[in-house]
Amino acid sequence: MKTLVTGATGTVGAHVMHTLTERGAKPRGLVRDHAKGVSVHGPDADLAVGEYSDHDSLRAALDGIGQAFLTCGNHPSQVDWETTFVDAAAAAGVQRIVKLSALGAQAGSPVAFFDAHARIEQHLRAAGIATVQLRPSFKMSTLLAGAHGVRQADSFFAPAARLRVDRSGGRHLRRRGRRVVRHSRPADPLRTAAG
Ligand SMILES: NC(=O)c1ccc[n+]([C@@H]2O[C@H](COP(=O)([O-])OP(=O)(O)OC[C@H]3O[C@@H](n4cnc5c(N)ncnc54)[C@H](OP(=O)(O)O)[C@@H]3O)[C@@H](O)[C@H]2O)c1
Repeated sequence: MKTLVTGATGTVGAHVMHTLTERGAKPRGLVRDHAKGVSVHGPDADLAVGEYSDHDSLRAALDGIGQAFLTCGNHPSQVDWETTFVDAAAAAGVQRIVKLSALGAQAGSPVAFFDAHARIEQHLRAAGIATVQLRPSFKMSTLLAGAHGVRQADSFFAPAARLRVDRSGGRHLRRRGRRVVRHSRPADPLRTAAG
């Protein structure tokens, strides 16, 4: 079954493309900028140029696709963009969508991207396509955004938790923290990155 990886030039999508390729699959990546796609995935990668607001480009990218990984950076149009993709995928006969959501996703949340993810999840469930909704917590790579503060204060202030995948639900993979991760582990590479 051919897989379309959206956000293939993004942090998570690029890893998904690489991992699928390493495993012998031949995924297609949806990219906005072909040159950027080639710089990330090489000249032999199967890349479709398109974007969520361009229906024709989505139709072309979805041709022959059986399953898709759906992700987008947080943006005021994220709900419109991702639900447009879901509708295009349903029309194209896609059988499964794995959506990158976020822990805390809840419709009506005052946190805009929690609300956005919940509304996209609802739309996806209503579309009748088999779905896996990933709800990660804080990505450790995001800690690098704190490099400046570490450099200034020689300390890092943020809660974090060890992640565990709960596979029991089938349709939802919710990651829950069980034990606190001491910042001594991520602090060293952060200190190196911060100089
Ligand atoms: N950071 C965290 O700790 C965290 C935790 C939990 C969940 N999340 C969720 O993870 C998602 C972000 O993933 P990420 O880190 O991989 O994001 P990212 O690095 O910003 O990548 C976003 C990808 O989406 C593409 N994109 C943006 N707008 C598009 C459009 N209109 N049409 C087509 N493609 C478009 C971007 O293309 P370009 O390369 O062309 O810009 C890029 O490839 C968010 O939804 C966020 O809520 C993040």
